[in-house]
Amino acid sequence: MSQIAPSILAADFNCLGKQIRELEENDVKILHVDVMDGMFVPSISFGMPVITSIRKESRLFFDVHLMVQEPIRYIEEFVKAGADSITIHIEACKDVEATIHKIKEMGIQCGISVNPETAVEKVLPYLEMVNMVLIMSVHPGFGGQKLIPETLDKVTYLVKEREGRNLEFRIEIDGGVNQGNLSRIVSLGVDVVVAGTAVFRGSIVENMKKIKEVM
Ligand code: DX5
Ligand code: ZN
Repeated sequence: MSQIAPSILAADFNCLGKQIRELEENDVKILHVDVMDGMFVPSISFGMPVITSIRKESRLFFDVHLMVQEPIRYIEEFVKAGADSITIHIEACKDVEATIHKIKEMGIQCGISVNPETAVEKVLPYLEMVNMVLIMSVHPGFGGQKLIPETLDKVTYLVKEREGRNLEFRIEIDGGVNQGNLSRIVSLGVDVVVAGTAVFRGSIVENMKKIKEVM
């Protein structure tokens, strides 16, 4: 069964706490937290203080997606802030393995991510070490973009690889998910579906109701 992970990048920061409570009341278990540094991606979002603040009020699983150059520099701080899982980009690390080790050493889960133009085969050496692979289905940096259909082939590839090697990592898709393409994504075998705009635009309650019908 797939799970939804709303991305707070699309939230109304004026009432972030209230919106997170609304998600909790609508059976959400995972919160996707997009951190952007203005270097790895063109935009800047938010960092540790926001996570520390929402951690005080929420017991959701914080799935922190670091779109950050050399994320190894910040792992400890994000764990202290309250991350339950940290996903790093393969393109952003000089030493991917050391970064994965650093995250696992801190006792939390680790994810690895690939941009749309990065071949999925690049993750093969790390599949035994990670809890999750995040497939970017848009170019990272902004919410509200259109899903790039070819990126979904990476899901099918990873499902086979996972089966063949008897591994247990989760597969997450991130970017451009909407009510129109959700059922196709779920049918591919994705474990975690990130959605920003599709959850936060308009009524969260109404959006979640429609999403739950498909998942
Ligand atoms: C993009 C982020 C995504 C984004 C998803 O850089 O990693 O998590 O917020 O937003 P939507 O669902 O609006 O495409
Ligand atoms: Zn993300």
